[in-house]
Amino acid sequence: MFEKFSFIRTGKVGGQERLAGSLQRVPVHVAIIMDGNGRWAKRRGLPRIAGHREALKTVKKVTNEARRLGIKVLTLFAFSTENWKRPKTEVEFLMKLPEQFLNSYLAELIENNIQVRAMGDLSLIPAHTMKAVNYAIDRTKNNNGLILNFALNYGGRSEIVQAVKTVVRDVQSDKLRSDTIDEDVLSKYMMSRALPDPDLLIRTSGEIRLSNFMLWQLAYTELFFTDVYWPDFNEGNLQEAVREFASRQRRYGGIVEKGSEKR
Ligand code: FPP
Repeated sequence: MFEKFSFIRTGKVGGQERLAGSLQRVPVHVAIIMDGNGRWAKRRGLPRIAGHREALKTVKKVTNEARRLGIKVLTLFAFSTENWKRPKTEVEFLMKLPEQFLNSYLAELIENNIQVRAMGDLSLIPAHTMKAVNYAIDRTKNNNGLILNFALNYGGRSEIVQAVKTVVRDVQSDKLRSDTIDEDVLSKYMMSRALPDPDLLIRTSGEIRLSNFMLWQLAYTELFFTDVYWPDFNEGNLQEAVREFASRQRRYGGIVEKGSEKR
C-alpha cells in the first residue's frame, strides 16, 4: 500500500498553488506528541482539563490539514503507558476524549475517507472508550484515505518487550526460525507492523524528548520540535513542520538517499 521510499513527491499539494514549490516532498507518515495542554490551560487560569478539551479541536484541524497536504498516515500519541500516574480525575477525563472526538467527528471522518486505527495495550482501556474506538475502526475500515492512528496506552519499550515475547513464543512453537530474525522480521512483531515508519515526528510545547514514543520506529525519523502548545498548534504550524522536513536531506547513515537530492 505504501511506496517503498520514504516520501512522495507531489507537484501540487491539495491543489493549493500557494504552497506549490514549498511543500514538494510530503512525509508519508507523520507522528505527533501532542504536548502542552496543561500549560496552555494554566496560562489562562483554567483547569488542566480545559486544555485537553481544547486539544480536540486541534486534533480535528491537524487531521484535516494532514489529509489536505497528502500525508498518508497520522499517528497521534493520545495516552501513554506512563499517563496512568496522573490524578484519577484527569485519567478519567483523558479516557473520555476519544469518544468525545469520535462522537463529534466520526461522520466527518467517514465523509473524508479517513481510516481510524488504534495501537497500544488496549486491554487496559475502559470499555466505554474502546466501544467508541472499535465502532470508528469498524465504520472506517474500508476507507482508503488518510490513516488516523491513535496511540492509546502506548509505550515504546513495552511494545518492544511484547514483540520479543511473541518472537520467543513463535520460535518455541516452530513458527519462526531464530536464524531468520532480522530487523524486518522484528518490525512485523511491532504494533505498527502495517504502517511505514514515521518520516516526521512533531512534538509540541518546547519539550525535547521522545517520552517512550515509537522508539523502534523513530530510528531514522526527522524530528521537529516547536514551542507551540498543542491547543495553539494549527494548520500553519503543520505546514511549517512539513516544509522543514522537505528541506532536510535524509541519508539513513549513507551518503545521499537516491532521489532525495536537494535542488
Ligand atoms: C500532554 O499534555 C497531553 C496528553 C497527555 C493528552 C493528549 C491527548 C490529546 C491531545 C487529545 C487526544 C484526542 C483524541 C481524539 C484521542 P500535558 O497534559 O502533559 O500538558 P503539560 O505538559 O502542559 O502539562
